[in-house]
Amino acid sequence: MMNPLDAARKSDRSPARHIRIAPSLLAADFARLGEEVRAVQAAGADLIHFDVMDNHFVPNLSVGPMVCAAIRPHATVPIDVHLMVSPVDRIIPDFARAGAAIISFHPEASVHVDRTIGLIHEQGCKAGLVLNPATPLHWLDHTLAQLDLVLVMSVNPGFGGQAFIEHTLSKVAAIRARIDAQVAAGGREVMLEVDGGVKTDNIGRVAAAGADVFVAGSAIFGTPDYQVTMAAMRAAALAACGG
Ligand code: DX5
Ligand code: ZN
Repeated sequence: MMNPLDAARKSDRSPARHIRIAPSLLAADFARLGEEVRAVQAAGADLIHFDVMDNHFVPNLSVGPMVCAAIRPHATVPIDVHLMVSPVDRIIPDFARAGAAIISFHPEASVHVDRTIGLIHEQGCKAGLVLNPATPLHWLDHTLAQLDLVLVMSVNPGFGGQAFIEHTLSKVAAIRARIDAQVAAGGREVMLEVDGGVKTDNIGRVAAAGADVFVAGSAIFGTPDYQVTMAAMRAAALAACGG
């Protein structure tokens, strides 16, 4: 079966840089998760961002594969699983079975990063590497050619509703340059996702720095009309990257 993300790409008729908005369910009403997934999809969500926290790698505990499987029947867009879990390898097949399209992990949570990327691909999912605000770019030196996505944390992971850390923008720009160089040399396309404190009033700067996937939790679920909020975010992102 075709990965849902490939299916989404096949029908992609958007401008040069395809902007994707990924609402983070961490800020949704947990008592009505299925309904919340359907609501953000109806409002234009391109991905569903699913944050997994283990009270070990990060100081918070959220949801696991059973909850991912429970929302799967409601999801018509790819589920983008962000694992803040250490060690990470054992839980990866569980999330693939639970319907994840993309699985991203932090290099600090894996002893053998190349093996973890391979494991995600073997499970039929897209693989992402997550860089915390203080995690150096050298983690991409020997991984970028294998990755489908790089996720730049613009807050320290563990909680929603934190303030955007401005110095992460230069990291986004540096990764955009590396991805563009890889593609220009005939290499793999890689999505560049930013997560944490992204809102309507700063998404333009994040897009201008080179991101194309925007995670937003409180900025979307904290507003009364998801569609109005996401349309404003998309317009600001497209305007900033010339779309
Ligand atoms: C933080 C999570 C984020 C979080 C973003 O560890 O990875 O996905 O939900 O929430 P906001 O958009 O509220 O900063
Ligand atoms: Zn996240």
